Amino acid sequence: MQLPNYQKAKSRNKDQVIREEYQKNKQYQNLGRGKTYHVKTYGCQMNEHDTENIKALLEELGFQEEEDYEKADLVLLNTCSIRENAHNKAFGMLGRLKHLKEKKKDLIIGLCGCMAQEEGVMDEILHQYRFVNFVFGTHNLHHLPDLLYENLKSKKQEIEVYSKEGNLIEGLPVKRATSYKAYVNIIYGCDKFCTYCIVPFTRGKQRSRRKEDILKEVEELVKEGYQEVTLLGQNVNAYGKDLEEHYRMEDLLEDVAKTKIPRIRFMTSHPWDFTDRMIEVIAKYDNIMPSVHLPVQSGSSRILKLMGRRYTKEDYLKLFHKIKDTVPNVSMSTDIIVGFPGETEEDFQETMSLVEECQFDNAFTFIYSQRENTPASKLEDGVSLKEKEERLYRLNEKVNAYFLKNNQKLIGKVVPVLVEGKNTNGKDGLYGYTDTNKLINFAGDISLTGKIIPVKVTDAKTWSLDGEIDES
Ligand code: 5AD
Ligand code: SF4
Repeated sequence: MQLPNYQKAKSRNKDQVIREEYQKNKQYQNLGRGKTYHVKTYGCQMNEHDTENIKALLEELGFQEEEDYEKADLVLLNTCSIRENAHNKAFGMLGRLKHLKEKKKDLIIGLCGCMAQEEGVMDEILHQYRFVNFVFGTHNLHHLPDLLYENLKSKKQEIEVYSKEGNLIEGLPVKRATSYKAYVNIIYGCDKFCTYCIVPFTRGKQRSRRKEDILKEVEELVKEGYQEVTLLGQNVNAYGKDLEEHYRMEDLLEDVAKTKIPRIRFMTSHPWDFTDRMIEVIAKYDNIMPSVHLPVQSGSSRILKLMGRRYTKEDYLKLFHKIKDTVPNVSMSTDIIVGFPGETEEDFQETMSLVEECQFDNAFTFIYSQRENTPASKLEDGVSLKEKEERLYRLNEKVNAYFLKNNQKLIGKVVPVLVEGKNTNGKDGLYGYTDTNKLINFAGDISLTGKIIPVKVTDAKTWSLDGEIDES
């Protein structure tokens, strides 16, 4: 058994990361033969992509996917720690699984992802959730077959969570969610240590994949007919900083653009590492989508300092306008936290004024959630939950008004759309995403799924557009 330790998780060293090729263990080949699995995924795209690897690992063992978790022989929760509600959802699900296991004695239950990296969570699992068969963390996903094997053999709870990142594993099998859109990891971990954030503890130090490995993966996706890649990382702009060769995010973006994959997206960017060259590269290549997610978190420079974000409101605005002025028709989205400890009404008004100036196309807004062991969790917080909820409400009213206003500007325009499939509006209804990452609904044949087609915008709502296929 190995349990997580925050002291170790926090430490960073300059050691070069060792790369290792995933080796399939033939011994486990038939472990899951005749059995089914179901993976529930919480949280960000990073977790969604990890789930794609987990599914492929399970299928290598002979398991087959089952849509209904109640019917599956193995249920695995890939968890998220970012806010308390993600926590509560996973624990709620564990409660349901406990009942299910009372009826289905052989049910295998696993837990992985960010929550497994938390000391407090693992303490609970050890003492109150003995029915969980196995647990692994974010650093040893590739050990899933070994843990499962051990658990089935010993019938004992198997827990293996490394506090520190180990080798960077290449060549993991992957079962992608679609045949036209793919996630490609470019950097793991985060060294920013924003004071509210648990990610630097749960995902370890910043580690970039080698450009050769990334480009090879993208080139294969092009060959397979993929239309879009999203380059993933907690902070993609830090890409390359830990590599020996001088090769950074802008170089990678440019090389990925040259593979001719039709659409490139990337997330998430930290304003700190967003260089002028990167903006120029985004503007230069048609296949880099004009859509930038640039989390601001707060509009108050005082709060930004307490958050450890390393920029002021003015720095953010300067960068924001530079991107807007350089990349034609770019859409901008952001993340905002309200109710950080000690946030005053004046601080909040600074956020509101920043929103008025930026008029974001999309924004993910959150109430601050205290996370175990983070520096912010030690700060005095005099703001009541009621006040925080009111601020969130006022902020949402404002951001929503701008979403609608920006969407309305598109009415009458023809936009390129990657068709994703049937929507819930009716029998001929399809949906897809525009180059600027806006959801659009329109009538069309299901065979268009996975294609990029021109669609004329006919109406605008707050969170989506309506359109019709442009035949002209
Ligand atoms: N409380 C609320 N929101 C948080 N985020 C990260 N940590 C917290 C927290 N403790 C938000 C940030 C980040 C997004 C992924 O989640 O806005 O950009
Ligand atoms: Fe968390 Fe900040 Fe790293 Fe983003 S940049 S993952 S908010 S520590």
